[in-house]
Amino acid sequence: MKWSPFAVVTLLSLPVSASQVEVLHWWTSGGEAKAVEVLKSEWAERGNQWNDFAVQGGGGKSAMTVLKSRALAANPPEAANLKGYELDEWASLGFLRDLSPMAEHLGWYPKMPPMVRDTLSHNGTLMAVPIGIHRINWLWLNRAVFERLGLTPPTDWEQFVTVAKQLKAKGVTPLAIGNEPWQLTVLFETVVLGEGGKAFYRKAFLEQDPATLTGPEMVRALTRFQQLRDFVPEKYAGLKWHQATNLLESGGAAMQIMGDWVKGELSAGNYRPGEDIECLPSPGSAGLFSYNLDSIAMFKQRDPAQLQAQGELAQLLMTPEFQARFNRVKGSIPALSQPDMRQFDRCAIRSYQDFQQAEQGGNLLPSMSDGMAVPTNMRQAIMDVLSSFFNDPRANPEQTALQLERAMRSTRSGTGAEQK
Ligand code: BGC
Repeated sequence: MKWSPFAVVTLLSLPVSASQVEVLHWWTSGGEAKAVEVLKSEWAERGNQWNDFAVQGGGGKSAMTVLKSRALAANPPEAANLKGYELDEWASLGFLRDLSPMAEHLGWYPKMPPMVRDTLSHNGTLMAVPIGIHRINWLWLNRAVFERLGLTPPTDWEQFVTVAKQLKAKGVTPLAIGNEPWQLTVLFETVVLGEGGKAFYRKAFLEQDPATLTGPEMVRALTRFQQLRDFVPEKYAGLKWHQATNLLESGGAAMQIMGDWVKGELSAGNYRPGEDIECLPSPGSAGLFSYNLDSIAMFKQRDPAQLQAQGELAQLLMTPEFQARFNRVKGSIPALSQPDMRQFDRCAIRSYQDFQQAEQGGNLLPSMSDGMAVPTNMRQAIMDVLSSFFNDPRANPEQTALQLERAMRSTRSGTGAEQK
């Protein structure tokens, strides 16, 4: 449907009645559910109705499968948490409502940091509204465990391994992580950043350069990644990310590498981020910021009431007040320019400062593990290679680098989305 500014004005001024939206998301852990409550309650305060369409599963893979079946049955929800390349893919298939007329009419563009606007734009259309920026390259660390054992937080991967060996010798699990492919891919992404740096990361994932993917630096990153297998929990099969965080909180594990949705979980359990649980850049990645932008897309609808409800929801999501409340609980930072960070915790303040510096210094990197850097098929192929590799102690890093390159090459066409 093509929108004229006139249509937007008309729609925004329809008589006020209770609006109803169904919203698909996978925010189901304790901390995430609290963040959804913020959104639900603000929506309800405006006299509207919320139909929750929550699908369990960190990383959103199951949610996306369910969404596809609903869309194929011509019954998509009004709104969904869709991110990065998924947005391009759904937009190319013609499912998403173009929000650019609203954005222009309501002056949203100047409020978006350039990365946000870029990520959400597709051939001149706005595919979604931003709600929060998560940082991926974080190291979470249980301060009491480190103090008790007199250990120094690691700042590169060599130190990480040394510390991890010491922790293991003392009977503490060094690294809280489960064997889900997406969790392992988060870990691998941070290893690539820390071992190879920004240029290597770009060449490998954004340019998908065959020589880089199969070269000695990749072999080194894979070797390091494999080494970390020694430090996972005994029961790591099936461990969810938030269960890994619970292990970190209790001191059963000393460290976790994960996006800052971890922080939502900490606060939900009354652990103070930046105090009980320290937040540091993942080893070797100080100054870099790998981002994951959460955003809500609206599926095309015919019914004017549904269109109006979408418009109202989009407007609520774009308010600085909502974004401050939501992101304080979610663990992310607002996705609007110049947010008021006064009431945020230490880690969020650090995240925002690092974001700004990275933005100025050209050090913002789209997260591969979270669908910001490569198309969905390619990301899936990468995850498959990485998880088989990590789970097979005899796997060979040289051969795996070749497999990685082959897997990425084979998904390079037919993804349904143009490379950005
Ligand atoms: C989403 C986050 C979410 C996390 C874990 C990520 O893909 O962007 O909002 O908290 O998955 O469920």
